[in-house]
Amino acid sequence: MRGEPPTARLHARVAVVTGGGGGIGSAVCRALAEEGAKVAVCDSRREAARAVADEIAATGGSAAAWSFDVSDRAAVENAASGIEDTLGSLDIWVNNAGVSRIVPFLDCTDEIWEQTLAINLTGAFIGCQAAIRRMLPRGRGTIVNMSSQSGKTGNSQYAAYCASKFAVIGMTQSLAVEFAKSGIRINAVCPGIVFTALWDGMVDDYARKRSIPPGEVRPYLESRIPMGRLCTPEDVGRTVVFLASDDASYITGQAINLAGGAEMH
Ligand SMILES: NC(=O)c1ccc[n+]([C@@H]2O[C@H](COP(=O)([O-])OP(=O)(O)OC[C@H]3O[C@@H](n4cnc5c(N)ncnc54)[C@H](O)[C@@H]3O)[C@@H](O)[C@H]2O)c1
Repeated sequence: MRGEPPTARLHARVAVVTGGGGGIGSAVCRALAEEGAKVAVCDSRREAARAVADEIAATGGSAAAWSFDVSDRAAVENAASGIEDTLGSLDIWVNNAGVSRIVPFLDCTDEIWEQTLAINLTGAFIGCQAAIRRMLPRGRGTIVNMSSQSGKTGNSQYAAYCASKFAVIGMTQSLAVEFAKSGIRINAVCPGIVFTALWDGMVDDYARKRSIPPGEVRPYLESRIPMGRLCTPEDVGRTVVFLASDDASYITGQAINLAGGAEMH
């Protein structure tokens, strides 16, 4: 990053990205900052958020780190107010924080189910409320919710995750209609597989599920995608920038596939 381009699409807009210290979230933060946004890099892992914010600032962008748990309403509200006091009124909110486990359905404990829903779905619900309450008085704003290809099609041993990501799309569609006349657009993105830390923890379980060696997981996944490659964090970052920008001013309630041709609906 070498400062924003002269045609920066998000000049001086204030953007919140949850899970901003992770693989996809950090790329989303960089992409927003490259388009001139002032980015609040938010993560429950304080040091990870700080590292991404420092990196953006060191390369000429504008970013600050915040640490909170997206499923803790008081912490989210407190951070949202603090971000507005520090960076200015909120323009963009990206609900990206998430967790994922591959586990046979009958072994899925209440704890796994509840944690997955609490972070992936309730976290997005709380984030949407915090954002919309602050965007409504100004009559403008845009929200991007991180769903997944697993929010469009079920996968075995993935019930909690699929339930959370399908529900994120349902909430996105409902909010898009409810706030369509209020100047607030709400969309979702549905990436295919991105090899981030999220997948580091799932390769062995996926190999077990498919009865293949762990080393064959990535080639196997790539072979199922028409474009022959996995999704990258940068693919997601560019799509979030587009949805957050005025280029997408007539787009709301959509769940955009980033699937290399593997999903058409
Ligand atoms: N990696 C993929 O294949 C893939 C595909 C589709 C969708 N997604 C979604 O993209 C999002 C980001 O995933 P990723 O691949 O970058 O994973 P990641 O593990 O690299 O990043 C997730 C980040 O969320 C943070 N986080 C987790 N729980 C939190 C909480 N309660 N409060 C605040 N922060 C929390 C983590 O600290 C981490 O930095 C998730 O919602 C995930 O479901 C990922």
